[in-house]
Amino acid sequence: MTDYKRILVTAALPYANGPVHIGHLAGCYLPADIYVRYQRAQKRDIKFVSGTDEHGVPITIRAMKENITPQQVVDKYHDLIKESFAQMNISFDIFSRTSNKIHHETASGFFTKLYDAGLFEEKETEQFYDEKAKTFLADRYIVGTCPVCGNPNAYGDQCENCGTSLSPDQLINPRSTLSDATPVKKKTTHWFFPLQNYEPWLKEWIINDHKEWKNNVYGQCKSWLDNGLQPRAMTRDSNWGIKVPLPNAEGKVLYVWFDAPIGYISATKELTDKWADYWCKENTKLVHFIGKDNIVFHCIIFPSMLKAHGNFVLPDNVPANEFLNIEGEKVSTSRNWAVWVHEYVKDFPGCEDVLRYVLCANAPETKDNDFTWKDFQDRNNSELVAIFGNFVNRAMVLMHKLCKGKVPPLHADILDEADQKLINNIQQAATNVERLIEEYKFRDALFEVIDLARKGNKYLQEKEPWKKVSNDNEQGTSELNQKLIDNCLHICLQLTANLSILINPFLPATSKKILHLLKVVDKMLDWENAGKIKLLSVGYSLRAPELLFRKIETEEIAAQVEKLKKGSMQNAESKKQIEESKKENEVQVAVVKPEIVYEDFAKLDLKVGTIINAEKVEKADKLLKLEVDLGFEKRTIVSGIALHFKPEEIINKQVVVVANLAPRKMRGIESNGMILMAEDENGKLHFVNPDENINAGSSVS
Ligand code: 2FM
Ligand code: ZN
Repeated sequence: MTDYKRILVTAALPYANGPVHIGHLAGCYLPADIYVRYQRAQKRDIKFVSGTDEHGVPITIRAMKENITPQQVVDKYHDLIKESFAQMNISFDIFSRTSNKIHHETASGFFTKLYDAGLFEEKETEQFYDEKAKTFLADRYIVGTCPVCGNPNAYGDQCENCGTSLSPDQLINPRSTLSDATPVKKKTTHWFFPLQNYEPWLKEWIINDHKEWKNNVYGQCKSWLDNGLQPRAMTRDSNWGIKVPLPNAEGKVLYVWFDAPIGYISATKELTDKWADYWCKENTKLVHFIGKDNIVFHCIIFPSMLKAHGNFVLPDNVPANEFLNIEGEKVSTSRNWAVWVHEYVKDFPGCEDVLRYVLCANAPETKDNDFTWKDFQDRNNSELVAIFGNFVNRAMVLMHKLCKGKVPPLHADILDEADQKLINNIQQAATNVERLIEEYKFRDALFEVIDLARKGNKYLQEKEPWKKVSNDNEQGTSELNQKLIDNCLHICLQLTANLSILINPFLPATSKKILHLLKVVDKMLDWENAGKIKLLSVGYSLRAPELLFRKIETEEIAAQVEKLKKGSMQNAESKKQIEESKKENEVQVAVVKPEIVYEDFAKLDLKVGTIINAEKVEKADKLLKLEVDLGFEKRTIVSGIALHFKPEEIINKQVVVVANLAPRKMRGIESNGMILMAEDENGKLHFVNPDENINAGSSVS
């Protein structure tokens, strides 16, 4: 860490096509904010940039749905998103937008630099086209029935109901979302970035040099690299986006995933004249906070672009989180299965820190996690109220009662073991929180803070200073007892001051409230003060106690669950729709694929093969590695049938093999061909083979 002179933190640019929900917060904005607030308290030179991603298909789809222009969409949601983040105290130095002029210039300039260096390959490919709307269609613009689950509204790239990755060709009854027309294929030209050329370098840079990246991030990168990289089109046919800065590129814009990450650079330019220090000087630590769906773009594609450009630093870390589910189900914005931030702040005014607390305590740092309203209530009532808030309140109340509202002195000569232990705990907690935040382990760091407050409660409980007061005789409390009370409350107040420092990155509003009670200035929150026990001066008078947190009642939670259920009703509606469509499509599923001509069929080379060996593929539940004898040669074929057949069951079975399918790497194994299987209505697989064994290599036609 100390090798770096400055830190640049980015948080993924959310699409300006809808409000933000708590999954967004938990995924990247909250961890980024915790990290940044901590680094600021360390007095490090740090900038925190983000903004809205205002191009690409998500925006145009939303415009269509709301029957407004893309510009109106991004204006509306930029403001709403920015406000929600501000309400949750996400402390960006700048929250920009990719529709800004500076961004258009920066992204165009970036493209031009790569183009001038001869890096792009111009290629003609076939893409889906809507003849009615006279426009090319990105996969997301095409909807149809999912061949796997029957969802009538599956997208051309993925079915949101069953999660299957699809291509538009696989959809049953595909239609354009623009005009309902059936899409046709049409030739178009695009500029491809040769990602495959960066593969050796990426392997060195990630697999060898960044073993410290989180397992989920490292693993995803490794799997992409093992599977081999392909050239990727960096332009699209659309009227919405950054125009391709070339003379012959009418109707072409930059691919949104080309322009969006450059948005981090543009936002920094907009923020400071010294932007180049943060982007071009080697001793900058660049950290991208993102959700797991963005890993490939931030770890593979954007770094390759930066490398190709040559002027920029590369990320030091990309601490991506997994997803946060809600009440056991995946967030679905279309089905309104979400907790929207702008609604939360209205429903729970003044409780922003509670949400920050729950989302951090339950952050999906290593795996998908679940948010439930019951857990929200429990964590608030039994952790924030009963542990943290309770400790601070008791310290303040007792100090007023037993020490005349002033910070009592510390009598070093009578410090006992318990006092010393708590002092050590404070110092230890400061060290631990620091280390854990630096390692991006925010949950564990937060638990350290809560645990320290818990220790404070235990200490008070054991010391029972209130029992040392005596009003029985004229002398009142004995001198020794008053000294013991002083020591106990002195330490508790110093602990309170420390809690405000340690909790500040996580719960900044709570930290401010403690500062107010202690009548100290923000400066005390500097991290160099963490672990110190001389933060409050003896004799200093403090304010009257005020509660830091309120209890959350069961009715409030019930109302939220009820609200979600409305979404769930819609869910049930759409599930019903899917079931119905599945029935309607039963016949279609068999015959649905668009008509082909004989020449299309003739391209397939189908051969009979004999399976001569089969084994499980490590860490892939569904895959078997087969050795198939095709007569003229033996082939390795990786097949997704492991859940249906045991390897030993299928040895010597004959199968029909697509023998001229291009090789494909799966889990690092090159698969040369595909075996055909029939699937019955229960999803069970059956062999498709000759009625008796024939010579391997026989043709099927
Ligand atoms: O997944 C998303 O919401 C994208 N808009 C994130 C973009 S991050 C960056 F590259 F700009
Ligand atoms: Zn599906």
